[in-house]
Amino acid sequence: MGEVFDMNVLLLGSGGREHALAWKLAASPLLTKLYAAPGNPGIAEQAELVALDTANHAAVAAFCRDMKIDLVVVGPEAPLVAGIGDDLRAAGIRVFGPSKAAARLEGSKGFTKDLCARFGIPTAAYGRFDNLADARAYVEKVGAPIVVKADGLAAGKGVAVAMTLPEALDALNACFDGSFGSAGAEVVVEEFMTGEEASFFCLCDGTTALPFGTAQDHKRVGDGDVGPNTGGMGAYSPAPVMTAGMTDRTMREIVEPTMRGMAELGSPFAGVLFAGLMITDQGPRLIEYNTRFGDPECQVLMMRLKDDLLVLLNAAADGQLGHMSVRWTDEVALTVVMAATGYPGTPEKGSVIRGIDAARAEGAEVFHAGTAVNAGALVANGGRVLNVSATGRTVGEARKRAYAAVDRIDWPQGFCRRDIGWRAVEREKGG
Ligand code: AMP
Ligand code: GLY
Repeated sequence: MGEVFDMNVLLLGSGGREHALAWKLAASPLLTKLYAAPGNPGIAEQAELVALDTANHAAVAAFCRDMKIDLVVVGPEAPLVAGIGDDLRAAGIRVFGPSKAAARLEGSKGFTKDLCARFGIPTAAYGRFDNLADARAYVEKVGAPIVVKADGLAAGKGVAVAMTLPEALDALNACFDGSFGSAGAEVVVEEFMTGEEASFFCLCDGTTALPFGTAQDHKRVGDGDVGPNTGGMGAYSPAPVMTAGMTDRTMREIVEPTMRGMAELGSPFAGVLFAGLMITDQGPRLIEYNTRFGDPECQVLMMRLKDDLLVLLNAAADGQLGHMSVRWTDEVALTVVMAATGYPGTPEKGSVIRGIDAARAEGAEVFHAGTAVNAGALVANGGRVLNVSATGRTVGEARKRAYAAVDRIDWPQGFCRRDIGWRAVEREKGG
């Protein structure tokens, strides 16, 4: 299909990532109507919400036919790994997002490690195991520190960075005793890498990969990077460690061989390729791939994107990215995640949130993640609840603006980290 105007778009998902995508899609002059399933109260500012079960691909396809949807944008990984891209395309519907076979880059860590080995992509040395005895022998041979990963999707919980042998053995036991369901039936054990982490994004159309920004995430729940892992408590973009030279190396050594490899395996990659990188003394090494935008990394990318997102996603869906370029503001964007008490364990639901408008009046964007409306009031309805996002000339300035807006949110049952961007702010202070 050539260029499309007057587009009806269906966005799948319900988090802060999808609210940021909806906000940016709604700014496109090409957009006629945006639908979101299931969406959230923030997304409802830009889209009509539809109560579709995204696990029911036939129902999604039927909706698309009835509403003359021109493009489906898939936010989260689960529907991609379940093959929604294939099922919609088979029904003649255009999709931004990879096929099931291409989504193995996220859906199977072992698949990605084997791809890296076959195509010479720098990553941690590894072993793949489907039984405890062999995995145990490998761990005992290599020793700690070592990293144990459930092969499949485990909602961010399947990775154990074990600093001691007993921790590594506990992690193996957890995988093989079914703690992660079928995701843990196979395990990847890998070398512990040291360096600074960065998130690197590309838009891909099967052949071309177009660099699409960098970010740094904060995975631990507490200030100073302590406490349990979360989906991400805040992010900023760009990642200072991703200089132009590092980006070039990442494209040449990691992304481009991945694109060629996937094409050679008969599963060309189209959609967002999100490379989790370790920037080591020897250069960039792949930690893992995700096949969708990061959450909350997407929020800071959307804050900085100057170009029309819908034009870019169309080009990716049509194999036309070779003709495209991407422009960003010179500013830094930073987002602070506000979470409900209890997160990342069991979050308290139902507490009332006020002050979103006051926070926006500070010049910030407030993206909704886990919110709901109850009896006319906005309430918490998940772990990560709001993403308060601001821009500035420096990370320090963006951070000041974001926290000024956070302080206008009246939600006693919520909490956030107060140190998002600390590493970059220290760098800025250091000169
Ligand atoms: P993941 O859930 O795969 O994003 O992994 C969670 C975190 O574990 C990553 O962000 C890294 O901090 C860490 N990690 C994963 N693999 C390795 C590795 N091979 N070496 C060091 N740290 C790792
Ligand atoms: N923030 C990390 C992720 O989306 O996987």
